Amino acid sequence: MEPPTTQSISKSYQAGDDEQDKAINGCKFYDRSCPNLTRIVRYGVWSAIQNDTRMAASLLRLHFHDCFVNGCDGSILLDDTSTMKGEKNAQANQNSVRGYEVIDAIKANLEKACPGVVSCADIVTLAARDAVSLAGGPFWGVPLGRRDGLTASESEANNMPSPFESLENITAKFTAKGLDLKDVVVLSGAHTIGFAQCFTFKQRLFDFGGSGKPDPALDASLLQNLQTTCPNQGDSDTKLAPLDSVTINRFDNIYYQNLVNNSGVLQSDQALMTDNKAASMVINYSKYPYYFSKDFTVSMVKMANIGVLTGQSGEIRKNCRVVNN
Ligand code: HEM
Repeated sequence: MEPPTTQSISKSYQAGDDEQDKAINGCKFYDRSCPNLTRIVRYGVWSAIQNDTRMAASLLRLHFHDCFVNGCDGSILLDDTSTMKGEKNAQANQNSVRGYEVIDAIKANLEKACPGVVSCADIVTLAARDAVSLAGGPFWGVPLGRRDGLTASESEANNMPSPFESLENITAKFTAKGLDLKDVVVLSGAHTIGFAQCFTFKQRLFDFGGSGKPDPALDASLLQNLQTTCPNQGDSDTKLAPLDSVTINRFDNIYYQNLVNNSGVLQSDQALMTDNKAASMVINYSKYPYYFSKDFTVSMVKMANIGVLTGQSGEIRKNCRVVNN
């Protein structure tokens, strides 16, 4: 298959959208210093997805997990050192977050084209945007100019929202980052693509809350499928089930239709239907894909601006895994 062109990349992609990749503070940030930036990133994401369709989902999640810990500063990419425990081995990330090699490959190409110019944090942000549009989702302009953090935080990474937490707790974690309930509902729509390991929802399948029965809020036929994928034994913990089994790799609004039909896989996803405000947004997005696409782009830009480093703060890493190189 040919690499993507402005026409083929996504129906929603319009020629000139690169113009939208503005700086966080002013004019287009890498326009002069790295004019091929968006092309290089898009090609890197496209070829990774050609190789592994799930990579679109993994790159989107990588961005979320970067932004929620120390801000969108590429901290998740840092390897552990003798003096710093990084984020990669935190509970929510270890054997779970994927895509590090894709970012490395894009960074290597960028170092050839414009050495020492583009931050790893901006690469992760652009990669998430391109992943969504290549999976059939919306396209949006990304403010650029993030700098890379000098440190990572394992303890903050261990505080990522968990699928076993209440909606109230999850919302509080979003609020602490300057986001709100609407952002929780909209950004959870990312679970329209990608997979979850059985251990992240297995407690719903056999003995929900000690009842000896499955979660009553789980559709019977989905329950049967999930029980087949994740039999009630320890060695099924790392097996994978799609988060949206209807359109597994397509970025669409079916995730919300699933929630309306009691077919959310994670308990934290289905929990959106237990709050009146959240449920009415879910119902709205389940009916109107346009509003989901539109609101998703707004919430993604909001998330991508959490705690960004600009000006003289941080650095531009040459190798995304190491500081001061
Ligand atoms: C609201 C709180 C959230 C919780 C509790 C949550 C939880 C999870 C869990 C447990 C998984 C499966 C991980 C595994 O089995 O290894 C997952 C996967 C995923 N999450 Fe979330 N998530 C949340 C929000 C988000 C947000 C805000 C995004 C992006 C905007 C996102 C994007 C994804 C994607 C795309 C996947 C699939 C990744 C893949 O297949 O590699 N999630 N999430």
